[in-house]
Amino acid sequence: MARAKIQYICQNCGIIHTKWIGKCDSCGKWNTLVQESSSGIGGGPNDRGVSFQGQPATLTNLSGKIDESPRIISGMTELDRVTGGGFVRGSALLVGGDPGIGKSTLLMQTAAALARKGYYVIYVSGEEAVAQIRLRAQRLGAADTSIQLAIETNVENVLATLARVQHCDLVIIDSIQTLWSVMADSSPGTVTQVRLGAQVMVRFAKQTGSTMILVGHVTKDGQIAGPRVVEHMVDGVFSFESGGGHHYRILRATKNRFGATDEIGVFEMSDCGLREVSNPSRLFLGERHQTTPGASVFAGIEGTRPVLVEIQALVATTSLGSHRRAVVGWDSNRLAMIIAILEARCNILFSQHDVYLNVVGGYRITEPAADLAVAAALISSFSSLALPLNCVYFGEVSLSGGLRPVSYTCQRLKEAEKLGFRQAVLPRSGLDKINLPLELNKMDELPDVVAQIAVSASQRQKKEDTRIG
Ligand code: TYD
Ligand code: MG
Repeated sequence: MARAKIQYICQNCGIIHTKWIGKCDSCGKWNTLVQESSSGIGGGPNDRGVSFQGQPATLTNLSGKIDESPRIISGMTELDRVTGGGFVRGSALLVGGDPGIGKSTLLMQTAAALARKGYYVIYVSGEEAVAQIRLRAQRLGAADTSIQLAIETNVENVLATLARVQHCDLVIIDSIQTLWSVMADSSPGTVTQVRLGAQVMVRFAKQTGSTMILVGHVTKDGQIAGPRVVEHMVDGVFSFESGGGHHYRILRATKNRFGATDEIGVFEMSDCGLREVSNPSRLFLGERHQTTPGASVFAGIEGTRPVLVEIQALVATTSLGSHRRAVVGWDSNRLAMIIAILEARCNILFSQHDVYLNVVGGYRITEPAADLAVAAALISSFSSLALPLNCVYFGEVSLSGGLRPVSYTCQRLKEAEKLGFRQAVLPRSGLDKINLPLELNKMDELPDVVAQIAVSASQRQKKEDTRIG
């Protein structure tokens, strides 16, 4: 029998080293090497005269018939949108998230929804005891469903359990880090074990047509723990995040072979599980008052869905020698760029001011389309002129101060109209004919926006004066 080879595997990037070193020379991380012994797993045919004795695979062409079985739809609209219209049979998905974020809760609710529709669902947990899972199921109102529960961490035993069932529609493995196989000689949670466990589960899904959901832990810097290779193996990677310490949760698709990425599902954590939030814009719009300068509403897009978010800016005279810039929910480099453009093109000087920017509700904006809304909030706070309550802003700002069109203009405007907004400030070009009861203020460049804010504030003041008079 071949002697087990000692090797050192980086737990961050999965690279194999033959001797221990403090710093992985592939990813540069310190103290990530763990000793694991390999008993020949992953060894393939070599080119030293060994004959290939495998079974030949059938070669086929691309224009054949496709047996497309319908997707498994959970009925939870937020979840089904993120998966691209339900789970595809034979697919394997990875759900990652911080500890305690609600992964097990989400999957238990998904399992219950499918079990109620008559699907056969197996929930394999390696993290909790039966009693704990039953307690959670009772809390979620899932105790009376036909979900089959197994407490198991050994890969071979899990496979034997699944093989006993004639056909199962959904298998949930909570979590991939607890799985271990006798085939690998290292402890659970190490790169070799995680990779092997995932490989076996993905193969099971492909061979039987069951949908496999793997729960993955997340490291301190937000990556799904274990080798990136697991993310390549599965058909979809979803991350379950919290909105900055708030009680709502966002399910985000980062990879999806059967649907769009950048799609989000919004849930709210309550005392009896996760509740779907079908209108997230209401969450991200703060308490709004006519007289507060520095707040603008951005009409954004997440995946294919419009989301309205309030952006708040505070421009205050600095009391220290150097000014401060603090940003929550947006890119600080982009804020620096917008400030520089306002200084250079609109002559609004921030050098003696601290600038704080906050996206309401702990939401994170990644779109450049938010440039205009940020600029409007900054101008409003700087000039102490409140923006109209019923106005939305979107558009990219170029370094010359010009406004550039962004995609999905129609959807953004429709969502704003649906939520009761009556005005929009947006770039002039790139807008097709649109038939909505919205006053569209189409602008060419940032100085036009500054002028528009001043004019609309003075008009409102006049109206107010005549009302009082
Ligand atoms: P859990 O699903 O166990 O998280 P994960 O599997 O991601 O580690 O969720 C745990 C948290 O959710 C815990 O802090 C309690 C909270 N929770 C509720 O607020 N309401 C509920 O109905 C449930 C089941 C959990
Ligand atoms: Mg859990």
